[in-house]
Amino acid sequence: MTDATRNASSSKDRVLIFDTTLRDGEQCPGATMTFEEKLEVADVLDAMGVDIIEAGFPIASDGDFEAVSAIARRIKRATVAGLARAISADIARAGEAVRHAAKPRIHTFVSTSPIHLEHQMRKSEDEVLEIITKTVAQARNLVEDVEWSAMDATRTPIDYLCRTVEAAIKAGATTINLPDTVGYAVPDEYRAMFRQIRERVPNADKAIFSVHCHNDLGLAVANSLAGIEGGARQIECTINGIGERAGNAALEEVVMALRVRGDVLPYDTGIDASLLTRASKAVSTACSFPVQYNKAIVGRNAFAHESGIHQDGMLKNQTTYEIMTPESVGVSKTSLVMGKHSGRAAFRSKLKEMGYDLGDNQLEDAFTRFKALADRKKHVYDEDIEALVDENLASAHDRVRLVSLTVIAGTRGPQRATMKLDVDGRFVTEEAEGNGPIDAVFNAIKAIVPHEAVLELYDVHAVTEGTDAQAEVTVRLSHEGSSVTGRGADPDTLVSSAKAYLVALNKLVAKGVRLHAQAAAE
Ligand code: KIV
Ligand code: ZN
Repeated sequence: MTDATRNASSSKDRVLIFDTTLRDGEQCPGATMTFEEKLEVADVLDAMGVDIIEAGFPIASDGDFEAVSAIARRIKRATVAGLARAISADIARAGEAVRHAAKPRIHTFVSTSPIHLEHQMRKSEDEVLEIITKTVAQARNLVEDVEWSAMDATRTPIDYLCRTVEAAIKAGATTINLPDTVGYAVPDEYRAMFRQIRERVPNADKAIFSVHCHNDLGLAVANSLAGIEGGARQIECTINGIGERAGNAALEEVVMALRVRGDVLPYDTGIDASLLTRASKAVSTACSFPVQYNKAIVGRNAFAHESGIHQDGMLKNQTTYEIMTPESVGVSKTSLVMGKHSGRAAFRSKLKEMGYDLGDNQLEDAFTRFKALADRKKHVYDEDIEALVDENLASAHDRVRLVSLTVIAGTRGPQRATMKLDVDGRFVTEEAEGNGPIDAVFNAIKAIVPHEAVLELYDVHAVTEGTDAQAEVTVRLSHEGSSVTGRGADPDTLVSSAKAYLVALNKLVAKGVRLHAQAAAE
């Protein structure tokens, strides 16, 4: 038994948190992270007390393999898992990637539902049973801690599901995950499935059961909690609920539901909830994926009170309209007013209060940008600082950087952009026209760094109120089947558009897309 499983069985109310932000989360369109960003996210997850970090799918690409191996070597507290299909080469590659982890886990899966068996796998039930026995045994020969998942478990007839679970445990699986792969289940059904499996499978007591819920019907968190009531003791989830299609159960939501409603859900996790906001920001920054404003626990409005009646209640007593304190999830209420007279110490303390923990160089960089912004903008709000720091963190490893931009816009076209970029340390300037100023800006980037990526999404919104507010732009680019998202903020919408496009372009470059910068260097 591993530490993780031992902990869970020694205390019946302990629920393990298995974070799959770096695997299932990263599978969501546009959420790709670079190698360095994955390490940063893994560090935050470990600091927060996540029990198992699913670091990636090692066979998927060399980049995934490298990231899983690096995380395995780096993380000392949490178990590090690598995903593998029920294929010998996948399992060997996952075993190799997690080999140096203090606590390695191989997570292997195969579909069990009739729909998947008939249309995708084209295999009989008996053939799949044989595959389970063979592949789980192979994984168990490589590591002691093996998780097996029955993909599409919730659309699998219970009798056959019992047979597959029994075979996996017999072959050496220590954790059994029964995912709601397509987000189809409802809570009563999911709870009942775990109860039945645990009652009917003869060797069920030899494994920890796990929930893994997708959010297609908005029920991922409710289903996960129901699965725990049905006897599961591991929750698979992601920060900000990112994941395939509508996403996975959000880690911050399951953790806080268990904490706030401990009266009816008497289960503990080992998560330090005061780091939830920091983790949310780290993930949102790494994958340039905005957090919905009204997102539970970590959304910008999660602790904002607008109506007069609510504000009146809050002034009299916080419990009138708050079921948990902002501080409990890492949002600090005290607010230092920041402006051009604020010094380094105040800036550092502000960042700390906002949940950022920057190294000296990053802090210095952010401070310089803050001063430049404060010169241009009367009031610098928390949201401005957040946008500025996120951008700073995202650009630490960029190969293409914006140096300057001038745009001629207005009614008398054509709109024209003159741009200077720093490409791998060389300055290159180009001029381009476009159908509108933003098109001209993007054409200038393409003129300097020719590429095939297609613009899939362009979104702009004001970070705060007022005409001097920063504009935050999100850009999604796709190239040969993979898509990446970039975010940029600046009081000038055209500059933020250029920054966002470059963040996304740099991510594509980090994924191996080659740069063909123009030779016209200065
Ligand atoms: O949703 C799912 O079924 C999965 C498996 C790989 C566990 O992500
Ligand atoms: Zn999944």
